[in-house]
Amino acid sequence: MGELYEELARHSRLYYEEDSPVISDEEYDLLLRELVELELAHPELARADSPTKRVGGAVLEKFQKVEHAVPMLSLDNIFDAGELRSFVTRLEDALHRNSAETRAEGAAEPSFVCEMKIDGLAVSLIYEDGVFVRGATRGDGRVGEDVTENLRTVKNLPLRLKKNVPGRMEVRGEVLITREQFAELNRLREENGESLFANPRNAAAGSLRQLNSEVAASRGLSVFLYYLVDAEQRGIKRQSETLRWLAEQGLPTQKAWAFCPVLEDVETFIEIWREGRFDLNYVTDGVVVKLDDIALWNRAGATSHAPRWAVAFKYPPEEVFTRVLSIDISVGRTGALTPVANLEPVQVGGTTVQRAGLHNEDEVRRRDIRVGDRVKVHKAGEIIPEIVDVDREARTGSEVPFVMPENCPVCGSPVVRLPGEVAVRCPNRASCPAQLKEGLRYFASRGGMDIRGLGDRLAEQLTEKGLVRDLADIYGLTEEDLANLDRMGEKSAQNLIAAIEASKKRPLSALIAGLGIRFVGDRVADILAEHFGSMESLQSVSEDDLAQVDGIGPVIASSVEAFFHDAANRALLERLRESGVSMGTGKTSSGPREGIFAGMTLVFTGELSSVSRAEAERRVKELGGKAAGSVSSKTSLVVAGANAGSKLKKAEELGIRIIDEAEFLKMLPQGENKAGENLGENLGL
Ligand code: IVH
Repeated sequence: MGELYEELARHSRLYYEEDSPVISDEEYDLLLRELVELELAHPELARADSPTKRVGGAVLEKFQKVEHAVPMLSLDNIFDAGELRSFVTRLEDALHRNSAETRAEGAAEPSFVCEMKIDGLAVSLIYEDGVFVRGATRGDGRVGEDVTENLRTVKNLPLRLKKNVPGRMEVRGEVLITREQFAELNRLREENGESLFANPRNAAAGSLRQLNSEVAASRGLSVFLYYLVDAEQRGIKRQSETLRWLAEQGLPTQKAWAFCPVLEDVETFIEIWREGRFDLNYVTDGVVVKLDDIALWNRAGATSHAPRWAVAFKYPPEEVFTRVLSIDISVGRTGALTPVANLEPVQVGGTTVQRAGLHNEDEVRRRDIRVGDRVKVHKAGEIIPEIVDVDREARTGSEVPFVMPENCPVCGSPVVRLPGEVAVRCPNRASCPAQLKEGLRYFASRGGMDIRGLGDRLAEQLTEKGLVRDLADIYGLTEEDLANLDRMGEKSAQNLIAAIEASKKRPLSALIAGLGIRFVGDRVADILAEHFGSMESLQSVSEDDLAQVDGIGPVIASSVEAFFHDAANRALLERLRESGVSMGTGKTSSGPREGIFAGMTLVFTGELSSVSRAEAERRVKELGGKAAGSVSSKTSLVVAGANAGSKLKKAEELGIRIIDEAEFLKMLPQGENKAGENLGENLGL
């Protein structure tokens, strides 16, 4: 376990801090799983800073309240250069008033640090002797909520500091969600028919306040720290030093900050980042200007809600007028028809905007958005182009109200609107080219069958040309089929065919995820694959059985059952099977799970003499089995070493097969046995 802790911490550092991983995500997951199993078997040896805590799992009834030792203040906002100058004057006055020196006596002008103002959620983190022990939200500034479990799942938050900082240390910063994660999160929510997050801040806040830390873990949050409580006691005199010091401890800090000796430098920083901020992969809404010299902070003082030594310069939200040229309908993977406004192209927030989603029919009608309207657009959370307002004054009478088509614009099927749903859908799931195209892209995506090269454009061509009429058709594609497509050279055609061929061996979980079953993302697919082991058993399972599985709720259960009962889906799976797509024979998605212990649960008890217990358990897992810590009716086999006690007794009572160590070693395949011995030797046994 010690080795695994070290190993995992090292890889996590390489990945998050140094941006240079040396193992794949899958390899990392394998190591992590091994640790999970070991911790299950030996909970008393689990460490507080264990990376296994990062996957979440704890479910709370409610959050505990946490009182902040030092209140978490907010910041006053300023909006232009004039207000910035008054802030500096006020600050200088306060400093001089509270100081023995006077301006005339030549007290130096204050220097500043400028940092980007991250649009996230303030948190306080406590480390004890370098180990993360508690995290809390700001709350009302005085009392916040204990969100430790959720914060542990934040991947770039170190659970242990690089250097051992003795005693209690509190750092503060901002939890956020990157632009990329945000887009992905909303894409998944849209696909699953869930309401979308309006902006990254809401997404981060909603995720951090999840009572189920597994949900929080799935949101992919990040954190940046910018404040060290008691900096002075640690001999740190300047904010610029704090930022460097935090980074040295392995705490994530944003790179977008600068030391600004004089006011003009602050102004320059603000100008540089006015546009530059759109290139950051997280959303910022301004610049925080801070006095660099920490000793002066006390002298400057604070009001009840904000310090006087810092201020937030807010960039104005960009809103631009443009015109609605037309309203298109896009058909998604699930058949939902979404109206999308085509706009006269305009520059907003660093990019050209020419389309804005209109969500659904009711929304367009409620807001009465018409073709030809002059509209005001912005980017929600500085990411998603949105129409914020319609200029009704500017109407000429020639504007055309929106009407939802009665037929799917792609395949012509009459559309349906199910009771209780806002979305209008094309019911032609089996052969609507739009649904097929989106489904194909999804099937081939990284979380699914991972077919490199099969992206949006190719999916479109394949479905439009009729080369692919259902997902299984891709396994019949030939190089000649591909040769006639746009931008398809001989080499890329060969690569694509090879990638398609390789995808047949993808693990069961990937296949399940790729099918695009409603509410079944990567994580649920993993659970299903792990639990059922093969497509065959999954296909014949009842809704009730599904709902019994840990991590599967009634909504998912019903959706999964419905999918596998649909005759078209069953036929598709049959064709995929015939094409040679692996349908999973072993138990889990990761690692080889075929072997002599497939489907078995083993319990080791007593002392083993030639291998360590951890090693023995690892072998069992490699050979398809599970190693459990206690004997129950589910136990298949008990391996009893010397001085076995209560577990052995229980196994006898339950009539479970018991073998000794020698017998166990004999069960291991030739070679495996040797490896075990070698390992024993290596361990000095
Ligand atoms: S310093 C004593 N620095 O903005 C207050 N705050 O609107 C110290 N924020 O509550 C705050 N980025 O949650 C600071 N680089 C940054 C920040 C930042 C975002 C947040 C923080 C604060 C809020 C005020």
